[in-house]
Amino acid sequence: MRLSVIGCGYLGAVHAAAMASIGHEVVGIDVDERKIAQLSRGEAPFFEPDLQELLTAGIASGNLTFTTDMSAAQGAKVHFIGVGTPQQKDGYAADLTYVNAAVDGLLPYLSEGDLVAGKSTVPVGTAARLAESVTPTGATLVWNPEFLREGWAVQDTIDPDRLVAGVPSDANGATEEGERAASVLREVYHPSVAKNTPFIITDYATAELVKVSANAFLATKISFINAMAEIAEVTGADVTTLADAIGHDARIGRRFLGAGIGFGGGCLPKDIRAFAARAEELGRGESVAFLREIDAINLRRRDRAVDLVVQAFDGQVFKKNITVLGAAFKPHSDDIRDSPALDVAVRLHGLGAWVTITDPAAIENARRIHPQLNYVEDRDEALRGADAVIVVTEWDEYRRELPPEHAASLTNGHIVIDGRNCLDANAWRAAGWTYYGMGRP
Ligand code: UDX
Repeated sequence: MRLSVIGCGYLGAVHAAAMASIGHEVVGIDVDERKIAQLSRGEAPFFEPDLQELLTAGIASGNLTFTTDMSAAQGAKVHFIGVGTPQQKDGYAADLTYVNAAVDGLLPYLSEGDLVAGKSTVPVGTAARLAESVTPTGATLVWNPEFLREGWAVQDTIDPDRLVAGVPSDANGATEEGERAASVLREVYHPSVAKNTPFIITDYATAELVKVSANAFLATKISFINAMAEIAEVTGADVTTLADAIGHDARIGRRFLGAGIGFGGGCLPKDIRAFAARAEELGRGESVAFLREIDAINLRRRDRAVDLVVQAFDGQVFKKNITVLGAAFKPHSDDIRDSPALDVAVRLHGLGAWVTITDPAAIENARRIHPQLNYVEDRDEALRGADAVIVVTEWDEYRRELPPEHAASLTNGHIVIDGRNCLDANAWRAAGWTYYGMGRP
């Protein structure tokens, strides 16, 4: 099937490449000429496992092209909208400028029976509004949220755990037009349909809410365990053992109970804020008032990590050499958007510490935004002479592949702050380190 993907950022570029890999003929469209030139050469504009291979194969097969020319969308049967919905500059609501511009720009090129499939994360009510401009063209608007995780984006796109589509509906469920749209989407996602991946067809509002509520739930789970970490800190309890124990209850589950410096990235923080802002607009602010608390708990964990470093030096971090292991908001990513890791590093620098920071993928991005920090590519080089080490992104390079004895041989002091509770505390202690975890004695 011929597809267009409007917006070639994180979501769009991966979606375009993944759709080409399952046999579709895809054109990716973006206003950013540099990005389009890069993608056209088969170069991934960001670090994401397997994306490079998919781009190379797609371009070589002729199934995957990129352009800045919106008219290239003409003739595609489904047009995916994958542009960003960042947090507004002067508030918490989502900025829909790019979504609106993408749909407006597409309108002249739509034909009778086309689908416009929104994938961006939007405030509930957006799809119904956009449908008003799409419907007169004879095309159908659907909302098909994306649940991919960075670092697993390719896998999550090709083999998602569920598919959701909001289609035109009335009180009896999907209309005829809605049913037709759903069957086109089933053709698009044929490998998932063949393996019986749950495919939920619903109305616009539900589809939009599925996405934001999934992210809100995940954020809540992380902040819940971080709240328990705060209690553990004043009682001498160990939050990692607590998480293991409650996680054995299948109703709770152990995943996303990793206490530490909290969540960041381009999605969870902005999405819960936008959700709270939208609920306020709808007169239901109190229904999700807890999300403010989720955000507040999350941000407090960054303070806690900084405090632990300060405590470790009896209040004096000025001119101390501190090596920060990690800059990305999570491993397997070079993304530093709202990265708790980088935030902690910047704050330590602000306190007068000499901060050296390393990361296997995110240094270039971090340096661009925070040039004041000292960046060292080589992990061991970064550790050399440190008075303390803080782990803030749980890359395998730090978690599994850094023997504490080896680290001790490189550093000056032997203080380690485990901002992700990812190290083997006993092994580090046995190697002579003073170990501080998050919510651990
Ligand atoms: C998230 C959702 O998981 C995904 O479904 C949605 O489409 C986009 O937002 P992503 O931003 O890629 O994906 O990251 P995720 O793996 O969810 O992690 C988010 C943050 O939470 C990271 O900073 C991570 O370090 C943190 N986290 C995660 C914890 O602090 N503890 C945990 O137990 C899990």
